[in-house]
Amino acid sequence: MTDDSLSSHLHEMDLSPDPAFTEQANGTAAMYDEAAADHEGFWARQARERISWATDFDQTLDWSEAPFAKWFVGGTLNVAYNCVDRHVEAGNGDRVAIHFEGEGGDTRTITYADLQREVSKAANALESLGVATGDRVAVYMPMIPETVFTMLACARIGAPHSVIFGGFSAEALHTRIADAEAKVVVTTDGQWRRGKPAPLKAAVDAAIHHGEDESPVEKVLVVKRTDTEVEWDDSRDVWWHDLVDGQPDTHEAVPVDSEHPLFILYTSGTTGKPKGIFHTTGGYLTQAAYTNAVVHDVHPESDVYWCTADVGWVTGHSYIVYGPLANGATQVLYEGTPDTPHQGRWWELVEKYKVSILYTAPTAIRTFMKWGDDIPAKSDLSSVRMLGSVGEPINPEAWLWYRKNIGGGKAPIVDTWWQTETGGIMISPLPGVTTLEPGSAQKPIPGISAEILDDDGNPFTEAEKVGYLVLTKPWPAMLRGIWGDPERYKETYWSRFGPKYYFAGDGAKYDEKGNIWLLGRVDDVMNVSGHRLSTAEIESALVSHPSVAEAAVVGAADETTGQAVCAFVILRGDAVDNGEETVQELRGHVAKEIGPIAKPRQVMIVQELPKTRSGKIMRRLLKDVAENREVGDVTTLADSSVMNLIKEGMTSGSSD
Ligand code: PRX
Repeated sequence: MTDDSLSSHLHEMDLSPDPAFTEQANGTAAMYDEAAADHEGFWARQARERISWATDFDQTLDWSEAPFAKWFVGGTLNVAYNCVDRHVEAGNGDRVAIHFEGEGGDTRTITYADLQREVSKAANALESLGVATGDRVAVYMPMIPETVFTMLACARIGAPHSVIFGGFSAEALHTRIADAEAKVVVTTDGQWRRGKPAPLKAAVDAAIHHGEDESPVEKVLVVKRTDTEVEWDDSRDVWWHDLVDGQPDTHEAVPVDSEHPLFILYTSGTTGKPKGIFHTTGGYLTQAAYTNAVVHDVHPESDVYWCTADVGWVTGHSYIVYGPLANGATQVLYEGTPDTPHQGRWWELVEKYKVSILYTAPTAIRTFMKWGDDIPAKSDLSSVRMLGSVGEPINPEAWLWYRKNIGGGKAPIVDTWWQTETGGIMISPLPGVTTLEPGSAQKPIPGISAEILDDDGNPFTEAEKVGYLVLTKPWPAMLRGIWGDPERYKETYWSRFGPKYYFAGDGAKYDEKGNIWLLGRVDDVMNVSGHRLSTAEIESALVSHPSVAEAAVVGAADETTGQAVCAFVILRGDAVDNGEETVQELRGHVAKEIGPIAKPRQVMIVQELPKTRSGKIMRRLLKDVAENREVGDVTTLADSSVMNLIKEGMTSGSSD
C-alpha cells in the first residue's frame, strides 16, 4: 500500500469503540476523571480492590525522598500468595493457570491448585539450598513452567530474582550475576531452539568460572529439559528432579513490606554497563494487575490470554507472570519460535487453546506480514477479541494487517508504551473506551501523567512539534532505583529536565487530535526487534577484540526488526583485514560477548570515524551511511573529508 492509499484507508475506517465491547470492558471513561481528581486515592483504590494485603497500608505515597518513591507504606503482602493461593482459596483451584506448549509439541496443563503445589515445592527447595528473604537468585531459563514456578517461589520467600534472557552469553551472564551477587542460579541443561537442543547450563558454568573473580554463586539448580550432556560439580550442582520433586507441596508464604525488592532486571543504558533496574512489591503488583485488567481487558473467568514475550524481558515479568496470575487468568505459555515446525505454529496454538487476547511485538507482526496472509488464514482465529502490541511503535500498515488478519477486522488493538523502568503499561488506549489511532499509543492511562517538553524543558501541546517524553507524577510500578547505584538512577532519569520530570529517553509528538506518537530513542539506545541494546555496550564488545582499535555502532532502520545494529570499525595497525572473514569474526565476537541478539547486521571496516573537534563521534552521519542516505551536514566535523573516505573505502559484510 502506498502512503496515500494507506492514509485514505485509515481515514475511512471507523475506529470508535464497539458498544458491545464497551459494555463488557474493564476500563471505563470515568476512570480518567477519577484518577485526575484524586491521583493517590485512585491508586489506593486499585491497590485495595485488586490486591490482598496481609496488613493494610497507612500511606499511599511517600515522595518525601524524591526521586526515591515509597508506595503503600506500612502495607505487607506476599506476591505468590496473590498470584496463586488466593485463587485456590476462592474456589478457583481447578481453573487452568497455564496451558504450556513445548516447542516439540509436548504439553502440560497447570491449574491454580497445581501451581500452588509446584511453587510451594520450589520454595521449599530454594530454602533447602540456603536461600532466605533478601538473597538474590539468578534465573537463566527458557520458556517452560519451571521458570514461572521459580520466579513465584522467589517471590514467596522474598528473595529477589534476576532473570537473565536465555539469549545472553556467558559473559553477559557473569556481569549480571556478579552485580546482583546472586547466591543461587536456576537453569536448565539446554533449551529447544528450532527443533534442536542448545546448551544453557554450559554458559552458567563459564559465567561462574570467570577469570580470577570469586563467584558469589553457591548452588546451581538444573532442570532437565533437553537431555543435553552437562558438566557436573557435585558440591554445587543439583538436579531439579532430585531436589524439588520430593519436597513438601505446602509452604507458608511470608508477607513482606510493600517496598521489599521483588526483582532486578538488567537493561541497556547509554554506557557499556547494564543497569540493574529494581522493582518492589506492592506498587509493582498493583499496577501489573490493574493494567492487565483495564488495558488487556482480561476477564479471568472467560478469556484465554497469550503474551508471546520471553520471560527474560520485562514484558514477560509483568504480563506473563505477575499481572495475569494476580488476576487469576488462564494463559498460554509457548516455548519455541514462531516458525517451528512451520510458519503457522502460533495460529494453530490460537485455534487449539481458543486464545481470545494476544499481546505481541510489532517485529513479529511484520514478520508474519512477510510470510503471507494465507498462513494465519489456515487456522480458525474466531476466538480472538483483543490484540495488543509492545516494544516499539507499530506502524499503521502492520496495525491494519494485525487487525484484519488476526483480529477478524474488529478486535481493538492496544499499542502500549512502557519500559523496563516503568514496570507496567503507561501510555495506551483503553479498549472499549478510546477511539483508536493506528500508529499512536495515544494517551496516558488513568493514573498516569505524561507531557512532552521542548529543548528548554518547557511543556507544549502544539501538534507535530517534536519533543521529549517525560512522566510528571510518580506511579506505583516505577523503578525504585538502579541496583547498587542510586546516583546513576538520579543522573539517568531525573537530571535532564530537573527533579520534577522523569525523562524516559524517548522522542514524542502530539497529533492534531492530541494523541501522543512515540518517535524512538533520543539517546544511544537501540531497539532491535523490541529488545533494548546499547551502542556503548556493543562498541566495548568490539574493542575488546584484539584486532579492533576503535568502533562506533548505530541503529539503522530495518523493515522487519525496527532497527538493526550497524558497526563501523577501525582495525589496529598490526591487524590484517581479511575482508568477509574479519567481518564474520567480529560479528561472532559480539555474539559471544553479549549474545546473538546483539550481533551486528553489518560490520563496516573503515579507516576513519567522523568526529567533532572535541572528539565526539557523530553517529548521525554514520546512520546516514548505514541507511543508504545522502550524508547530512558535515560542517561540525574536525575533518570534513572523512565521510567521503568512509563511503569510498569501506569493506562491508552483512548478516547471514
Ligand atoms: O523506546 C521505547 C520503546 O522501548 C523502550 C523500552 O524498552 P524496554 O525497557 O526494553 O521495554 C520494552 C517493553 C516494555 C521505550 O523507551 N517502546 C516500548 N513500547 C513502545 C515503544 N516505543 C513506541 N511504542 C511503544 N508501544
